[in-house]
Amino acid sequence: MYKVNMNKSGIRLTVALLLLSIYAKAQSPVSVPGNVKQVTVSGQQVKISTDNAFAEITVYSPDVVRVRLDKKPLKADFSYAVIAKPASSKINITQNAQEIHITTDSLQVSIGKTPFAITFLTPDGKVINEDEKGLTTSWVSDQVTTYKKLQEGERFVGLGEKTGNLDRKGEAYTNWNSDVFGYAVNKDPLYTTIPFYMGIHHQLNYGIFFDNSFQSDFNFGASNNRFSSFGARGGEMNYYFIYHQHLNDIIKSYADLTGYMPLPPLWSLGYQQNRYSYYPETEVMRIAQTLREKKVPADGITLDIHYMDAYKLFTWNKDRFPDPATMTAKLKAMGLHTTVIVDPGIKVENGYHAYESGKAADIFIKYPDGQYYTGQVWPGWCHFPDFTSQKGRTWWQNELKTYMRQGVSGIWNDMNEIATWGQKMPDNVLFSFEGHPVSHMEAHNVYGLTMARASYEGARAEMKERPFVLTRAAYAGSQRYAALWTGDNRAEEDHMLLGVRLLSSLGLSGYAFTGMDAGGFTGNATVGLYTRWMQIAAFIPYFRNHTQVNTKSAEPWAFGEESLEITRNYINLRYHLLPYLYSKMYEASKTAMPVVRSLAIDNTYDPLVYDQQYQNQYLFGDAFLIAPFESTASFGKIYFPEGKWYNMYTDAVTAGKKEDITAINIKTLPVYIKGGSIVPMQSLVQHTGEMPSDTLQLHVYQGDQAHVFTYYEDDGSGYDYEKGGYYSREISYTGSGRKLTLAKASGNYNTKFHYIRFILHGFEDKQQLTVDGKTIGVTATSYSFLSPISRFDPQGTFVPADSCKVQQFTIANSNQLINVDL
Ligand code: NOJ
Repeated sequence: MYKVNMNKSGIRLTVALLLLSIYAKAQSPVSVPGNVKQVTVSGQQVKISTDNAFAEITVYSPDVVRVRLDKKPLKADFSYAVIAKPASSKINITQNAQEIHITTDSLQVSIGKTPFAITFLTPDGKVINEDEKGLTTSWVSDQVTTYKKLQEGERFVGLGEKTGNLDRKGEAYTNWNSDVFGYAVNKDPLYTTIPFYMGIHHQLNYGIFFDNSFQSDFNFGASNNRFSSFGARGGEMNYYFIYHQHLNDIIKSYADLTGYMPLPPLWSLGYQQNRYSYYPETEVMRIAQTLREKKVPADGITLDIHYMDAYKLFTWNKDRFPDPATMTAKLKAMGLHTTVIVDPGIKVENGYHAYESGKAADIFIKYPDGQYYTGQVWPGWCHFPDFTSQKGRTWWQNELKTYMRQGVSGIWNDMNEIATWGQKMPDNVLFSFEGHPVSHMEAHNVYGLTMARASYEGARAEMKERPFVLTRAAYAGSQRYAALWTGDNRAEEDHMLLGVRLLSSLGLSGYAFTGMDAGGFTGNATVGLYTRWMQIAAFIPYFRNHTQVNTKSAEPWAFGEESLEITRNYINLRYHLLPYLYSKMYEASKTAMPVVRSLAIDNTYDPLVYDQQYQNQYLFGDAFLIAPFESTASFGKIYFPEGKWYNMYTDAVTAGKKEDITAINIKTLPVYIKGGSIVPMQSLVQHTGEMPSDTLQLHVYQGDQAHVFTYYEDDGSGYDYEKGGYYSREISYTGSGRKLTLAKASGNYNTKFHYIRFILHGFEDKQQLTVDGKTIGVTATSYSFLSPISRFDPQGTFVPADSCKVQQFTIANSNQLINVDL
């Protein structure tokens, strides 16, 4: 036997060191789960206790696995974001002394026992994502963080409305919804919390959604080369791991968990004119009339805080707006919908009905000693409704009815971070959290979501038409209730480009209905900046122009005749494109496929799409490649990803996987259309209530790739579409096979288009088209997306009218299967 020879002082020293190490361990400021002690398998769930923690691993679907972990036994499950339950899936769970192994049809999960650490693998054993073995998950006081091994070449995209680059590698971010007036282009955090990102490495992708509403932190290899991590200042480690081969499927799985956006009313996709603030009524009507006189198509006018009496919510300033219902009716008759701003702060003022009714219904948030929390915002000292209780939401809905009854169509939820002067709402204020009270620390990041929810549910209950609901603050899941805009940006060139990236990142994070203040909120845009920004905004779902109080006018006519001509050209184009956009918004409501679509979605492994010189490019839907550049640029470098790209104005073709330099002028935004695309368009209207001509223009771009476009139409306003009141048909292009098929229309809504005009781009000079075996003659051979504005174009830099050489053929729309030989 091995014998240890030690004298007395040696033994004393060893004992002392042993005690010291035990003491040091007990005193360590960082605790970890340690080794697995007990494992219980029940159905699709594994419950585990470790030396220091409790875990639950649940299979939600073959591609989605949830991980929960806490130092204490796990609490009852609750989330404002997740609406999905685990779906019964075929799985296999085994274990041995080293690991617990879960296999689904799509992935494997290996849970190491010494120590507790998780690895996600493909079915053939490639590591998709793994806990950093030395760090795993740890707690520092109440702050919990999970550390993932940084994989070689790993990129990160998503996390919602976050500044920085498309590829977030090397960056760190915090989520704490903040009122950031005139934020800097690198500011973090902004207004929203969408704790979902996707990792990309070795031709593998995964998504992680960390559902914890406390202030959270994400690190994608900032200040270290060892890990990426996500954590929060309280609550559980609670994340969903999603694996698919394509990013669009990961985004869809995220939306399966957190919900899809409702189909918006068609009018909300028109142009919306905002300012802080239009008043009195005569000024609102002047704006409305000028839009019509100057033939600037528009569908919405927004009333900012000055419509209220002393900023008191649910009131009107009677001097400025003596008869709101008549005004909204007059606007509606002109094809303009009214949206009003709502802020959560209710003025503390005896006799003010919302204050009195809020107190009577006991819906304001309180300190732990039972006193109301009072904070200052526009109206002065205010109380704030607790939207995390049904009681609070019901109260809000009742109050909101006034607006709907006065003919308001849109509700704009602002200041819902909650924003208060001082920006330091106390941590100890309490919220109901649906009957399980929590402190402000846990409720803060979901307050915006719950307010948007109350507004959406309230407006929906009161209106026959679909409401338009907008929010500034959000949490994952807010897309179920409201469109989102990126708050108080600045009238600066880099803000315009940042805005595009914010929207593209929101799209990667399940938020499809988004927009920004085109023209910039703070400051005054130059003529060039305004013009370029409005061009870009024509290719953004929520098309809004807005500006701060006391800035110069920023309507399309406020920057001179030439800017007006250019801006109007693009607003016109937007209205021509409504059949395309509405179909894409419908698709987003079913698949979460963003409409501001990052190039990373279709070209995930192409390093050039992440290159900082190309990261502002995006696809509008799946057809239009938008290349935004500063208004001052006279040339720009564009990256054309895989495919074949047509210059929208001339049809000149550029092959894909190519960088190219192009001359730029302010009259045209660089826009390209992908070969194989199908783009339905309509004749020009001044608002969506106006009937376009009865011919649907169907642009088809020659390309080698097969492509399917799902055309969608309905009444644009009500809910009949949920009961079959829609018109939809698949339009398939075979690519090199050169066939176009329009499937028989489905649904029982009658399309407004009785004719279809095929407009063929890039096909040889066809004089005849064969449709269902019959030949049809060509009717026109040119097409232009914009109108000529030659009087501002002495050098002829602007594209002339009829600049694309095309072949146009018109047929009656039978709604039956139509076969076209191209
Ligand atoms: C802040 C919002 O972000 C801005 O759009 C609005 O005009 C002001 N609040 C005033 O209501």
